Amino acid sequence: MNRELVKNLNGQMNFELYSSYLYLSMASHFKAQNLNGFAHWMDIQAKEEFGHAMKFYNFLHGCNEKVEFGAIAKPPAKWDSPLAVFEQVIKHEQLVTKRVNDLVSQSVTLGEHAAFAFLQWFVNEQVEEEASAVNVIQQLKLVGKAIFMLDNELAKRT
Ligand code: FEO
Repeated sequence: MNRELVKNLNGQMNFELYSSYLYLSMASHFKAQNLNGFAHWMDIQAKEEFGHAMKFYNFLHGCNEKVEFGAIAKPPAKWDSPLAVFEQVIKHEQLVTKRVNDLVSQSVTLGEHAAFAFLQWFVNEQVEEEASAVNVIQQLKLVGKAIFMLDNELAKRT
């Protein structure tokens, strides 16, 4: 396989591990606040991301290419609100989508059909990943609106 593509596939394996680390940090943040449902969602997300990294790992091994491990960056650990957490999730997933699209474009340009076929799973997965983050954001905004309306209501007490 093309050297540059192998390097970038390894880079994406690392980025998926970072994603797992980021979501585990978010899970830990929620757990510390006793928001156990949010923490559970993030735990599952972190496990999924580890699974994504393993797909790259297995694909590279399957192609007899070298798997290279790099340092995993330190994730953030503090957010102002659940909405701030999920706004970071969507931003992160949009970045993943861009990286996957770039890998797809590179595999097309290089005529690397096995990599192209492998990456299609990620193209579809990213549609779901973005949609589930947007869904939580919309619900959090509705909750915020409801609290604001209740606050206005309570302010009317005489
Ligand atoms: Fe593996 Fe959420 O992208």
